[in-house]
Amino acid sequence: MLLKDQVALITGSGRGIGRAIARLFAGEGASVFLTARTQSELASTAADINKFAKAAFVTGDLTSALDCARIVGAARKKFRRVDILVNNAGHYGPVVPVQDYPLAEFDNVIAVHLRAAFLLSKLVLPEMYGRGYGVILNISSLSAKSAFAWGSAYAAAKAGMLGLTRVMAAEAARKGVRVNALCPGPVTETVMSQKLGATLAKKMGVSPKEQLEGFLNTLLQGRAQTVDEIANAALFLCSDQSSAVTGQSINVDGGAAFF
Ligand SMILES: NC(=O)c1ccc[n+]([C@@H]2O[C@H](COP(=O)([O-])OP(=O)(O)OC[C@H]3O[C@@H](n4cnc5c(N)ncnc54)[C@H](OP(=O)(O)O)[C@@H]3O)[C@@H](O)[C@H]2O)c1
Repeated sequence: MLLKDQVALITGSGRGIGRAIARLFAGEGASVFLTARTQSELASTAADINKFAKAAFVTGDLTSALDCARIVGAARKKFRRVDILVNNAGHYGPVVPVQDYPLAEFDNVIAVHLRAAFLLSKLVLPEMYGRGYGVILNISSLSAKSAFAWGSAYAAAKAGMLGLTRVMAAEAARKGVRVNALCPGPVTETVMSQKLGATLAKKMGVSPKEQLEGFLNTLLQGRAQTVDEIANAALFLCSDQSSAVTGQSINVDGGAAFF
């Protein structure tokens, strides 16, 4: 088992990619602490995992600094420490050009992806440094490295996460802590991706099927990625299998970005 006796705090773990990461990590021996805003999804994920491993959860809104602190406190109270932090929670935000983008929505998208990753890292790093061991994984996106119209806050937040990843890796490398990022391409089975696809199709005046096929055709593999493919890459980056990898962003996008 690759994560035996580790404690992982995974944000946005009630559904989608976060849920798949939590299930996989638990199957590899980790105790997983879940968080998101929707209690029913967290309860269902935790109940599923509790059939074979230890899982617990607390609800919280990651755009709130107070909630970030409360979430880390609850994880420590339940499992005594945090060895692995996966900053996965997020939403896409409005699908509009910059001149129409509401400022409050811009701030909210930055807050859930970038500011929360900063705040949660700030909360767990002292403990990781004290132990001389820890891993932080930031779930960024192909959007950080590409140029898709109508998603300025999302792209800025995801690109910001890559900068944050590199700086934290530099600060943490000699203290036994690794920090990396994953850049998934289209994971079309998730709520976020399906909502975005439907909105883009409407704006482009094509059917959701046409919109999806057109996008997938731009990837070398010509297909979507699955939540399990993203979770497998997350497992690699959060386990000792990647013990010499830090400050990196790994593309799991079927062949779309090449840097
Ligand atoms: N799907 C893709 O194609 C794709 C591609 C590249 C990157 N990503 C990234 O992968 C991550 C997971 O996305 P997904 O596709 O799995 O989407 P998803 O199924 O919609 O899951 C998003 C998760 O984040 C939580 N969340 C959203 N806003 C939150 C907030 N303010 N506070 C706390 N939790 C919040 C959601 O729960 P609640 O709504 O209950 O809070 C949910 O658990 C995101 O960071 C996304 O940007 C996804």
